Amino acid sequence: MHWTAFLSLAFAVPSSALVRFHCSQLVTERLDPLVQPGSNPSTHVHQIVGGDSFNATMHPSKDMPGESTCTTCQFTEDFSNYWTAILYFRAQNGTYKRVKNIGNNQFRNANGGLTVYYMQDAIYDPAQRSKVTAFKPGFRMFVGDVNARSLAEAARFRQLTYTCLDTFVTRSPEMMAFPTRKCAEGIMTTLRFPTCWDGVNLDSPDHMAHMSYPETGTFESGGPCPASHPVRTAQVMFEVVWDTKPFNDLEWPKDGKSPFVWSFGDGTGYANHADYVFGWKDDSLQKILDTPCHFMTNCSVESGAKLQSVADMNKCVQKPVVGEDIDGWLTELPGGFQAQYGPVSA
Ligand SMILES: *[C@@H]1O[C@H](CO)[C@@H](O)[C@H](O)[C@H]1NC(C)=O
Ligand SMILES: *[C@@H]1O[C@H](CO)[C@@H](O)[C@H](O)[C@H]1NC(C)=O
Ligand SMILES: *[C@@H]1O[C@H](CO)[C@@H](O)[C@H](O)[C@H]1NC(C)=O
Repeated sequence: MHWTAFLSLAFAVPSSALVRFHCSQLVTERLDPLVQPGSNPSTHVHQIVGGDSFNATMHPSKDMPGESTCTTCQFTEDFSNYWTAILYFRAQNGTYKRVKNIGNNQFRNANGGLTVYYMQDAIYDPAQRSKVTAFKPGFRMFVGDVNARSLAEAARFRQLTYTCLDTFVTRSPEMMAFPTRKCAEGIMTTLRFPTCWDGVNLDSPDHMAHMSYPETGTFESGGPCPASHPVRTAQVMFEVVWDTKPFNDLEWPKDGKSPFVWSFGDGTGYANHADYVFGWKDDSLQKILDTPCHFMTNCSVESGAKLQSVADMNKCVQKPVVGEDIDGWLTELPGGFQAQYGPVSA
């Protein structure tokens, strides 16, 4: 019997677990220790959440729990960093204004940030009975393609989507391009990472090759991991809410395009991407994943994990080290980008 099959049988205990929690914004600036380590500034603006040891350079041996003094995440033992690019609104006179991100449903009082899920099974599957493996210290990964400008390019990744929030709790349909109509309560981006790890490498040159999607089916359907990437991890998912409401009263493009662009210029939405650097203390994540928690119920009671209030999450902030205006009406995006919709020249 293959060892992964053995493991999944050995741990086939019902454990209705779905971990969902929020992290407030730590800092928003042009740093990217995963894709552009050491660059200060990196090419485009990100919004970052998690432990405050975040920096331009984060070697895999960096002791993130040890070097952090606080975290913006609800679990006090989670010093990971999670980040995405940010959105801008492009006005008809060609200038850009940052779209702020805001707390998600149940976390309206959070200072922006994003909601993190660690999923064992399909999100609304009441059974939730799978064992999943937590990541190891030094682990990091990326999903998406900053140069994707077509559906075909974006379709290599599963489930990097947009939802037009007609109400604050609208969760479908999910689209792969920017919504082109006005969304009453904002836009949600949902980003799901691959879930099969090679079990050896903490990272890879493109920050993706050490991870894979299931060989057949999907994570949600319990599809098996390929032999090259046999370790089934939790599905890390972000939900990010963008407050596009203030822009609904301004003039929109007459050609029907979305007025929103990513901080690196993508005006199609196909270049949606996300970054993850694991930084949980000791085995605290595995303990939580082995605990029957649903959203936050029982997570802390049964796993011993400590939670902090949203007010305390909001207190953990980092001063930007890249000094530049990212919030005013800008004639170009920070880093010198303009909106573009066609293929990206190399
Ligand atoms: C980031 O790294 C620099 C250079 O090593 C260091 O001086 C600074 O204290 C670090 N910042 C944080 C928040 O760890
Ligand atoms: C461009 O348009 C925006 C939105 O209407 C407006 O706030 C801004 O002042 C304009 N900038 C210039 C230079 O006209
Ligand atoms: C929470 O834990 C208690 C005690 O173990 C258990 O009785 C209850 O069913 C659990 N609730 C959920 C939602 O899992």
